[in-house]
Amino acid sequence: MLSEYWWKNIVVYQIYPKSFQDSNGDGIGDLKGIISRLDYLEKLGINAIWLSPVCKSPQEDNGYDISDYEDIDAMFGTLEDMQNLIKEADKHNIKIIMDLVLNHSSDEHIWFKEAKKSINNPYHDYYIWRDGEEGNPPNDMKSIFGGSAWTYVPELRQYYFHQFAEKQPDLNWDNPVVRQEIYNMINRWIDKGVGGFRLDVIDQIAKEPDNFITQNGPMLHTYIRELSKNTFKGNHLITVGEAWGANIERAKLYSNPDGSEFSMVFQFEHIALDQQEGKEKWDLCPLDFIKLKKVLSKWQIELHNVGWNSLFWNNHDLPRIVSRWGNDKEYRVESAKMLATVLYGMEGTPYIFQGEEIGMTNASYFELEDYEDIESINMYKERLKNGYSKEEILKSLHCKSRDNARTPMQWDSSENAGFTTGKPWFKVNKNYKEINVEQAISDENSIFNYYRKLIAFRKENPIITNGDYTLLYPEHKEVFAYKKTYENKILYVICNFYGNIVTIDLPNELENKMPVIANYNNSNSINELKPYEARMYLLDN
Ligand code: GLC
Ligand code: CA
Repeated sequence: MLSEYWWKNIVVYQIYPKSFQDSNGDGIGDLKGIISRLDYLEKLGINAIWLSPVCKSPQEDNGYDISDYEDIDAMFGTLEDMQNLIKEADKHNIKIIMDLVLNHSSDEHIWFKEAKKSINNPYHDYYIWRDGEEGNPPNDMKSIFGGSAWTYVPELRQYYFHQFAEKQPDLNWDNPVVRQEIYNMINRWIDKGVGGFRLDVIDQIAKEPDNFITQNGPMLHTYIRELSKNTFKGNHLITVGEAWGANIERAKLYSNPDGSEFSMVFQFEHIALDQQEGKEKWDLCPLDFIKLKKVLSKWQIELHNVGWNSLFWNNHDLPRIVSRWGNDKEYRVESAKMLATVLYGMEGTPYIFQGEEIGMTNASYFELEDYEDIESINMYKERLKNGYSKEEILKSLHCKSRDNARTPMQWDSSENAGFTTGKPWFKVNKNYKEINVEQAISDENSIFNYYRKLIAFRKENPIITNGDYTLLYPEHKEVFAYKKTYENKILYVICNFYGNIVTIDLPNELENKMPVIANYNNSNSINELKPYEARMYLLDN
């Protein structure tokens, strides 16, 4: 029997199914491919898989545009394969978390096809429409993927609203019939045995386009509570809401321990600190390291005992962390381990994005024509038009494109990295001969084996999820260090975030102590940190 808060002690692994493992040679990852890799995931020590969308979809946004919430896309397999995955994963003590894309559907969903037929169609009100003349949209709201947020349907003389691509019309959450349809659909998935859900851009469902409100609309938490009450509640699920607009106060609502909304939240405050303030993610600037420490620490302290956070550096929308804030060249292994160490002493539920555990890197040698992602492609078209140079655009893409995370998983050094026997749908990163799972498993000092240690350590030591957190050296420009205390234990996490040797006066009680986990085999002196050196100490109080 699962305890109510079982998800506090686990680690989740995110699979981007298109790029994980192909089983039939068509070049696209699929459910059978995932089943064939469950032994590997169990070895890593994870207990749940967050599966990016596998439902039927025209794949305009790689599955985040669903045309049938209750069927599996043929490219990934069948409903039976999905049932098998749930069953087989369970044998490995792994739950399957589905990705619920509820802010919008695909324009190829039957609801939208009907909605478009006439304003009297019963499905019309499932979406958001405004009367208008061609060329004169209701207002100048922009889509997140570029261009207007309104698309005209001449037959109806109406515009429909879409926060993302034209092919992703926003669902009308103010319509109670829509909400009920969604709850019924979710309950059918719960009956099929899924272990939880990740809720895509959930803070954008309660929109009021006439008032230019997309995020955090007035009805947001009312809708989420109704959703939870009608579906998740009492079912011992792990649920996580994606909320780019979350602050601490909202996060406390999302993750209220009474279970009225979700188990936890994905918030992104720490991950946007290398972009110019008030600008887009493409507008690069160096990481504000002092702020990073402040932000991560704030979340540790403020949610302690009153909410629950997720811990992550990566996902399918973010560049690879080792390339971003580590060093993917001479210190790739050290810096990847250091970055993991910073997070894994913290309270929250860690999420690993496929390939992170072997230190996969950005595809920073791509040319413009190598990009697949709709956001990246629309950005470069738009910026070219606005006078940016190709070089500038390419630089932004190399650093921030979502495609950096989406290259196929690197399993071994054989052709196409063992991802497929056919032609991969997307280019394999050319470093797969050095960076791959087979290598990582056989090398006891690999990033993979370090993650295993961190994961096992978290599970054995309640100080990680229960301890009181204090940031050390808050103003230090290179060291990220913190201390936790719980019952009769003290945990120290000491990390050199950069590639220089740092000398620092560490607390006296560390003198002559051996770290329980470290990314170098020995230290010159306790107070000297090597490039990207990371150590965790567990002491008796
Ligand atoms: C979320 C997803 C992203 C997708 C968007 C629209 O942010 O993570 O991949 O493009 O929502 O569904
Ligand atoms: Ca396939």
